[in-house]
Amino acid sequence: MDYLLTDEQKMIKNLAKKIAEEKMRPVRAELDEKGIFPMEIIKEFAKADLMRTYIPKEYDGLGLGVFELCIIIEELARVDGGVAVSFAVNALGSFPIVIMGNEQQKKKYLTKAASGEWLTAFALTEANAGSDASNIATTAVKDGDHWVLNGTKQFITNGRVADFTTVIAQTDKTKGVRGLTAFIVEKGTPGFTYGKDEHKMGIRSSVTTELVFQDCRVPAENVIGAEGQGFLVAMKTLDKSRPGIGAQGLGIAWGAYEAALLYAKQRVQFGQPIINFQGIGFMLADMATQIEAGRNMLYNVARWIDSGATKYSKESAMVKLYCTDLAMKVTVDAVQVFGGYGYMKEYPVEKMMRDAKITQIYEGTNQIQRSVIASNIVKDV
Ligand code: CAA
Repeated sequence: MDYLLTDEQKMIKNLAKKIAEEKMRPVRAELDEKGIFPMEIIKEFAKADLMRTYIPKEYDGLGLGVFELCIIIEELARVDGGVAVSFAVNALGSFPIVIMGNEQQKKKYLTKAASGEWLTAFALTEANAGSDASNIATTAVKDGDHWVLNGTKQFITNGRVADFTTVIAQTDKTKGVRGLTAFIVEKGTPGFTYGKDEHKMGIRSSVTTELVFQDCRVPAENVIGAEGQGFLVAMKTLDKSRPGIGAQGLGIAWGAYEAALLYAKQRVQFGQPIINFQGIGFMLADMATQIEAGRNMLYNVARWIDSGATKYSKESAMVKLYCTDLAMKVTVDAVQVFGGYGYMKEYPVEKMMRDAKITQIYEGTNQIQRSVIASNIVKDV
């Protein structure tokens, strides 16, 4: 099916595919097995200007949108979900500044993010603030022209490798969601250190780190938006980045479907390729249909966001929910098509099943997506 991509979009998609096939596919099993973050592959994305896509033109970007970001993530995730999210989180970490940063911050940080010279991360989650994102315990106290941060952020993708991180901290406990503020914290700032890197079930080629702030002094000029706008910064950022996780789920599902289809054509049982059996043919038909439905939804929503839509929390949550639930379903079925071989590490589908699981959890669990959708449906009535 023709998805009506422009020549520029086709070029970007092909570039992402080329890097995925040439640089990622040969090493993905090893990265997964050893849990290695492949910095040299991330640098390939920078060299190919893929990190410029989602940065505005004025700051050395290509001024493209969520759509182009999603087609890149989809191609990368088709081969390796972990590397795909490591790329995607550079957009997540840049979006707070794109959306609510001031001119000085945009010039300083976005130009470096666009060139890929600086990697980024987004630090909202804490031990007791996962789904309940406003229940943040990390504090920031004003001291002259600085803010002093104390606390620990957990499960931060790109945490250890990011050169700057958006950190959401509590600046006034009495004000609830309006008592949170967003800060840009640079790597190497005194008082900012790393805890453990997580040992994960899937996406093992990505790095997930605990960030520790102990009397970490951050210049007041690094506040994104205004004091008290941290929750808004976080929510607006997630609205824009959640389709990217949908794209990650879709890409993982697509990779698993392709592998299962190939296998079903080659594997002979009872004297014929197993694809000839209705039990397998129907499974593949369902996988293909779900992927097609997810892709159509993702592409439509991403195009609509890029057309200048201002309120898209519901649609963004729907894409994330639908495409990541289908990722789980399709990868589980892909393992089933492979039978006993699917359970073994020599074949790629067990990894894809492990990689798919996190897409239903991070950037808001799929229960939280349903809650966002439900609250918006109620408001629409
Ligand atoms: N845009 C603008 N404003 C918004 C908003 C949005 N999308 N969502 C909420 N708000 C506003 C509300 O209108 C409300 O304003 P008023 O007080 O004026 O009415 C205020 O913010 C508070 O909203 P809620 O009452 O809805 O807030 P809540 O505390 O009930 O939480 C939530 C809402 C949607 C559950 C939110 O906490 C949430 O999104 N949780 C999930 C967190 C999450 O996604 N974490 C992901 C971490 S990043 C990550 O995972 C990256 C990675 O590793 C790859």
